[in-house]
Amino acid sequence: MDFLVKRVSPAKQRTACLVLGVFESRRLSPVAKKVDQTTQGYLAKLLRSGDMDGKAGQTLLLHSVPKVAANRVLLVGCGKEREFDPYALRRAAATAATVLNNSGATDAVSFLADPAGKNQDMYWNVRHTIEATDDAVYQFDELKSKPSSPRRPLKKVTIALPEEGSVEGAEMALEDATAIIRGVRVARELGNLPGNICTPTYLAEQARALGKESRSLKVTVLEEAQMKKLGMGSLLSVSRGSREPAKLISIEYKGGEKGEKPVVFVGKGVTFDSGGISIKPGAAMDEMKFDMCGAASVIGTLTACAQLELPINVVGVIPATENLPDGLASKPGDIVTSMSGQTIEVLNTDAEGRLILCDALTWSNKFKPDVVIDIATLTGACVIALGGHAAGLLANDEALQDDLLDAGKASGDRAWPLPLWDEYQEQLDSNFADMANIGGREGGTITAACFLSRFTGDYRWAHLDIAGVAWKSGQDKGATGRPVPLLTQFLLNRCSI
Ligand code: BES
Ligand code: MN
Ligand code: ZN
Repeated sequence: MDFLVKRVSPAKQRTACLVLGVFESRRLSPVAKKVDQTTQGYLAKLLRSGDMDGKAGQTLLLHSVPKVAANRVLLVGCGKEREFDPYALRRAAATAATVLNNSGATDAVSFLADPAGKNQDMYWNVRHTIEATDDAVYQFDELKSKPSSPRRPLKKVTIALPEEGSVEGAEMALEDATAIIRGVRVARELGNLPGNICTPTYLAEQARALGKESRSLKVTVLEEAQMKKLGMGSLLSVSRGSREPAKLISIEYKGGEKGEKPVVFVGKGVTFDSGGISIKPGAAMDEMKFDMCGAASVIGTLTACAQLELPINVVGVIPATENLPDGLASKPGDIVTSMSGQTIEVLNTDAEGRLILCDALTWSNKFKPDVVIDIATLTGACVIALGGHAAGLLANDEALQDDLLDAGKASGDRAWPLPLWDEYQEQLDSNFADMANIGGREGGTITAACFLSRFTGDYRWAHLDIAGVAWKSGQDKGATGRPVPLLTQFLLNRCSI
């Protein structure tokens, strides 16, 4: 999909579809009013006759509107004007995109970025419009023998800017959004691929391919033999039950000064999580192909970061493995030694994410990070606590936690904090090793983070549990690409201070 930003004269603009907002109740937005004057009240008459009252989610597609140059006009409900915020904007843009994509219009000119005509925050208006639009039209159908996408899909959307007044930030927003939607698509693609295609080796190949795109990127992949030499007994204990070799992928992006401490992202890359010997129940087990969405978000974010040529140093670290039951697989009660030297009693082989992340956190010291942020589909408990709307956020540094919360809020890809208090640590006590890999049902997301906190080095650290946000279940089953927008925003914010 191509996006453009441009000052547009609404009634005169030639396009397959002009997209205009309507507020509750039956109130044409200022631009729609302007168009309505040209049509001599045609739109207002439709509203009066009750065809649409402007509620969020409503649309009305009109053909051959009198005196308007566009072939079609799509009216989109924006809800109450007083309540119109970035979330309402995203919803309106997504609704419009879905209708357009199935309408036969291959291009559109949309006034939804600023339906109230306030001419403020154009940067964010444009970003949200583009990101929500691309999100809504994404489809994963390359593994169907016949594509299920529309015959004439939407190909080009022009985000209309007002004819007069300031449009500051719009061009910059286009640039940032274009990189972010690409990163999101990369992450969704990897997430949606099944476990028999997206293996640890495949993730390593994708990282290597990304590495070829920019001279600022360097990719290295450690094999199991090297991990063994480094003492990564915890990571390797997970891959023992699989015939696919584990990989430890590092993607170094050097856009900043030499010697400037990097941001390190560590992404959980379990390409299929059966639970291992502590095997999961069969229902919805297929969804455990998404257990590498942390890794996917790291690859997606570095894709966006390289495209934007951000002037900072960033490293992506991805421990990638399968978690399967097998004669060699870890058994409940097994004790393994991590790279840090600490021993771990594996009471449940399904708590494998933390077992691979702990060695990746130790390995991350090598990059002398300023901050380390790990991103993982780590606990079902987080899905129960926060559902699909916010990622769980736990950190050992308040400023870092605030920066991540801010980046999530601004980008519409939110996180929400949970406490990392010492009182929770004792749930990990073991009679036989330095710690157990599970802490019981209570506070499951927190005790998982407590486990990880024992492996962080001399750096500020935050953990994002994305089990609830990384994919959707049910009819819309599929990867969301989250939290690529949050992570990219975090990097953008670091660049502007
Ligand atoms: N990948 C899962 C977490 C998960 C579960 C994500 C359901 C999304 C939906 C993780 O490896 C896991 O199995 N965690 C266990 C931990 C438990 C054994 C302490 C869980 O959450 O049940
Ligand atoms: Mn598991
Ligand atoms: Zn898992």
